[in-house]
This record gives sequence, structure tokens and C-alpha cells, in this order.
Amino acid sequence: MQEPFSERHGARIHAALHAAVAVATSSARCPPRLARALQYAVFPGGGRLRPQLCLAVADVCGDSDPVLADAMGVAIELVHCASLVHDDMPCFDDAATRRGRPSVHRAFGEPTALLVGDALIVLAFETLARAADGESSAMRALRLTRVLAAATGAERGIVAGQAWELEPKASLAVYHQAKTASLFEAATRGGAIAAGAGDDAAWASFGHALGAAYQVIDDIVDATGDEGAAGKPVGRDAALDRPSAVRELGLDGARLRAREQLEQAMECLPATASGDRVRAWVRGAVDPSLLRSVAA
Ligand code: IPE
Ligand code: IPE
Ligand code: MG
Ligand code: MG
Repeated sequence: MQEPFSERHGARIHAALHAAVAVATSSARCPPRLARALQYAVFPGGGRLRPQLCLAVADVCGDSDPVLADAMGVAIELVHCASLVHDDMPCFDDAATRRGRPSVHRAFGEPTALLVGDALIVLAFETLARAADGESSAMRALRLTRVLAAATGAERGIVAGQAWELEPKASLAVYHQAKTASLFEAATRGGAIAAGAGDDAAWASFGHALGAAYQVIDDIVDATGDEGAAGKPVGRDAALDRPSAVRELGLDGARLRAREQLEQAMECLPATASGDRVRAWVRGAVDPSLLRSVAA
């Protein structure tokens, strides 16, 4: 039997993230406070779900260019960490804690937090560019850059997601797609592209549905969880009057929606050994206590 993805990939992700962050922080030219805050924003980290997803897909697609797959996983995680730093700032969700300790702006101040988010996004794209070694890697890296830009940017990426909160009306599906599903979709598309399997619609749909389910689960945790277990403030969606699956569908409706989206995600996977391995990864990697929160 093959070793589960998560154990092998966890070490790869950790090493590649360290190397990428060191590019910015190990130079004496990087201002020391910013260097410390960049390290704090990325390490020790949370679930590392998106890079694990990227490497799981690259793995079942043959992983023909592991350096590039690592770079895409790292780039996605850096954008994710940046989004959390900015999201916690007083001008957005005003969250004092993240991953069980003070959020970056609480630990280092708002100006540094703003710059940490900016620097992590730049570092994400730099990481991809540095991995473009050789002609075939360069072509794949270019495609990965476009995938990551779409997931990050103002049209339908994380920037758009945060901006929907500033509009008088927002569609819940569009808001969730932009703020969360886009990066999960980039992870699955990115894993396939890095491995040379091309830009596959089924992988994109799988990542998208999984990300949409994950945000609904996060909405349920916000409405019903506690800060100790979540490692971040809860009750923020109601307090800030955010569109949320619980507000729109009620608690039972949100649980049903999350289950449907998870099922939809699993149906996108092929009925082969590869599909089964990714299904098993999802069951193991998405925190079982989160999955229990949507159980019937
Ligand atoms: C938190 O994402 C933000 C959402 C999109 C729900 P994660 O739950 O993946 O956060 P970390 O990285 O594990 O802390
Ligand atoms: C998650 O937004 C997506 C981001 C772009 C940060 P939330 O505001 O729901 O995430 P948490 O609950 O703060 O992690
Ligand atoms: Mg938010
Ligand atoms: Mg938030």
C-alpha cells in the first residue's frame, strides 16, 4: 500500500516554504521587524490544506516536476497567509487572534501587517518565477502564474472576495467562490499543470466544489464554534453583517449545503485508484471535527 500523501507532502511543503520565505527574510537588507513579522505570518502555520491539495493532485498526475509542484503549493499558501493577515486587520474583520495567538497586526502593528500581506503576495509570484528552470518548466510556470493571478486578483480572486464585503448587495455563491473556492481551484488546477497533465476541467471543478464546501463549513464554525478550538474569533459574520451560509440558509440548510458540495467535489474525481487516493486524502486532511460539524 502506498504511504498516505499527507505525511510525505507535509515535510516537502515545510521545507519549500522555509526556503521561499528565507529568500525575503535572510538578507540583511530586509528590515528586521518586517522579516520577523513575515516569519510569524507563515510559521508555524495552520492546516496547510491548499498546498497539500496541490501536491496530492500533482502526485496522482505523475509529479513529473516536483520542484514546480512545490513552488505552486508554496505560492498558494503564501497568498493564503497574506489574505489572512489582511483579513484580520481592523479595516476588515478586526480579529485579535489567528491560529491561536495574536493576529499579525496585534503582534506587530497595522503598518507592518499591511506590508506583510503585500510582501507575501509578491513572494508568491517570485517563488513561481524562480522555479521556472528550463523550457518546459518555464511554460508550465507561466500557466501557473496565470492561474494564481486569477485566484488572487480583482476579477474573481481573493481581492474580489474581500471587495464584495464593501458592496451593498452580494451573491453568497459569488462571494464564497472569490474569497475561498478560487484558491482551492488554483491548488487542484495547479497540481495538474505542474505535473504536466494540462489544465483539466474535472480537477478545476473538484477544487472549486471543495473550496465552496470549506467556506460553508467555516461559516458554520463562525456561528457555532468557540474561539479556543477555532484559534480565531467566532461570531464575526453576524457581528459584521457579512453574507454567510448560516444567515442565508439557516444552520441545518448550511450543513446540508456543505454536504452537497462535498459530495459534488467527490463526484468530480475519477472512479480509479487515483481518484480513490484523493478521496481518502480529503477525508483525512479536512479536520474530522470540521466534517463532524456538517454531519447529518
Ligand atoms: C481560513 O482558512 C480561511 C478560510 C478560507 C475559511 P484555513 O482554515 O485553511 O486556515 P489555516 O491556514 O488552517 O489557518
Ligand atoms: C476567509 O474569510 C477568506 C479570506 C480571504 C481570508 P473569513 O473572514 O470567513 O475567514 P476567517 O474566518 O477570518 O478565517
Ligand atoms: Mg473576512
Ligand atoms: Mg475573517
